[in-house]
Amino acid sequence: MPHVLTAAALPVAELLRRADTWRERLAAAPHPPIQPKAALVALLFYEPSTRTRAAFEQAAVLLGYHPLVITAESSSVAKGESLQDTVRTLNAQGICAIVLRHPHAGAPWLAAQVSNAPILNAGDGAHEHPTQALLDLYTLWLHFGKPDPATRWLSGRKIAIVGDIRHSRVARSNLILLTQAGAEVWLCAPPTLQPDAPLPNAHHTHDADEAVRNADVVMALRIQTERMQQGLLPSLDAYRRDYQINPERLRLAKPTCMVMHPGPIQRGIEITDEVADGEQSLILAQVRNGVYVRAAVLEWATET
Ligand code: NCD
Repeated sequence: MPHVLTAAALPVAELLRRADTWRERLAAAPHPPIQPKAALVALLFYEPSTRTRAAFEQAAVLLGYHPLVITAESSSVAKGESLQDTVRTLNAQGICAIVLRHPHAGAPWLAAQVSNAPILNAGDGAHEHPTQALLDLYTLWLHFGKPDPATRWLSGRKIAIVGDIRHSRVARSNLILLTQAGAEVWLCAPPTLQPDAPLPNAHHTHDADEAVRNADVVMALRIQTERMQQGLLPSLDAYRRDYQINPERLRLAKPTCMVMHPGPIQRGIEITDEVADGEQSLILAQVRNGVYVRAAVLEWATET
């Protein structure tokens, strides 16, 4: 019974293949009949979410589980219960898996200490978001024609991740999987949104043009407006000028360059409409692939 805590511990090749099987199955029957089990999968979402939560809910339904969504406001957390006691409580009721999104880095590891059911990290603070990285990898794997996933199939590819690297769990988990697959990863952020120490195996720059130049893939990240309040970003106008992924900046990349964004996107800030909705955008493919990947991960975690 495996937990899914960090991207580093995922059996990537197996999960890509399982996700692809889900894609084929759902292409043949978009709403397949299911065999419902008398079993719950809990989704503890202590931070807002649209696509991650919807994808995990759909994954649970596809596997015949009933998804039980619990938010901080609606649960005993609001009465002072600790995360570990919540996890013990759900275990005592025979829960099959717990999907956890939490504002604190490391929360899924604490949960895993007291859980017999698998814990699936759906984002912990600014730390990791393994299933997002896996769905991003799956999206690229499809785009590049399903190369052998056991090889370094992204070698020779330049991938630029541009935005608030400091607070991004998406960047951290992606860095792990992309470099494992052989990609050259560039992390680009304004000086105040760089991580405290350089992240391993990545090029770091403040210069978005340098990051995007000759890139095969550009991944834009959401600029959290709360960072403005913390005084980490002097102005959104300056951010747009220096870091926005817009058609002019994208022309520096390879003509075949694809654009990704984990969502939610803030149109007109980190990315323009033309790019987000353009032919080079993989953004909605990422959202769709999120369902296949969550089904694959939940299936693997509950059935192996
Ligand atoms: C991200 C998250 O919550 O980590 N979104 C997601 O899960 N698709 C990124 C973000 O909030 O900017």
